Amino acid sequence: MIKTIIVTGASRGIGYQTALKLSNQGHNVIATARTESNLQKLSADAPSGTITPVVADLTDPDEIQNIAEAAKHLNGIDGLINNAGLVHRESFMETGIDSFQRLMDVNVYGIVRLVQALKPLMTEGSHILNISSMSGYQGSLKFPGLSAYGAAKAAVIGLSEVLSAEFAEDKISVNCLAIGAVQTEMLSEAFPGFEAPVSPEQMGGYVADFILNGHQFYNGKVLPVALNDPS
Ligand SMILES: NC(=O)c1ccc[n+]([C@@H]2O[C@H](COP(=O)([O-])OP(=O)(O)OC[C@H]3O[C@@H](n4cnc5c(N)ncnc54)[C@H](OP(=O)(O)O)[C@@H]3O)[C@@H](O)[C@H]2O)c1
Repeated sequence: MIKTIIVTGASRGIGYQTALKLSNQGHNVIATARTESNLQKLSADAPSGTITPVVADLTDPDEIQNIAEAAKHLNGIDGLINNAGLVHRESFMETGIDSFQRLMDVNVYGIVRLVQALKPLMTEGSHILNISSMSGYQGSLKFPGLSAYGAAKAAVIGLSEVLSAEFAEDKISVNCLAIGAVQTEMLSEAFPGFEAPVSPEQMGGYVADFILNGHQFYNGKVLPVALNDPS
């Protein structure tokens, strides 16, 4: 069955590859991010007509509405992948409250705004998949300098669990993947020179499979997707 899936943060990295994988399987993908040129490249790389690009900043409520409008034109959505994210690495004592607020705004409130705008367009059997990080996963190895990022990604985990309880009566599933290192621009920014064991193509393939099938097996789950021991 052809599905309609929204992928945020689709202009590069994991989101780009997730959108491409879904479109190559014939699904309709609403691909959103701020960088229009990258979304155009995605459309060109994907099978004709499968990508609906929407340029939107997830911190702007008006631009969020443009994503909802695109979803209405496609008669609703079957899946939402909240993948867009922002990292910040600085010692805790140097990290200003503005950086904490910015990280929360993009990583957490972006999800809040989008889910509130899209929930009315979701029907029974829809799946919301939030992308968190091992940086926010309880008990995992932590790295100095990621306090704002880790706090925001932990908030994504808590939000996911509550939404799954709240949306259960509507039969909308909510899961969360706490992923480990993937070789993307974000990783290079946070850990210059570090080589991740997983490529964006690999993780995009996993995320694409999970949005299509994961809710047959999981609901309200926070799953670590990392090669290293999370404890
Ligand atoms: N790579 C890793 O090792 C790793 C590990 C754990 C978790 N993660 C998580 O995986 C997800 C994808 O990460 P990635 O490594 O693929 O990152 P990335 O290459 O830096 O891509 C981030 C994406 O988020 C979008 N974005 C950022 N701010 C936005 C905003 N205000 N509004 C709309 N879109 C925005 C960017 O698009 P524009 O700039 O075009 O808007 C871009 O498409 C993130 O949630 C990240 O936290 C990644």
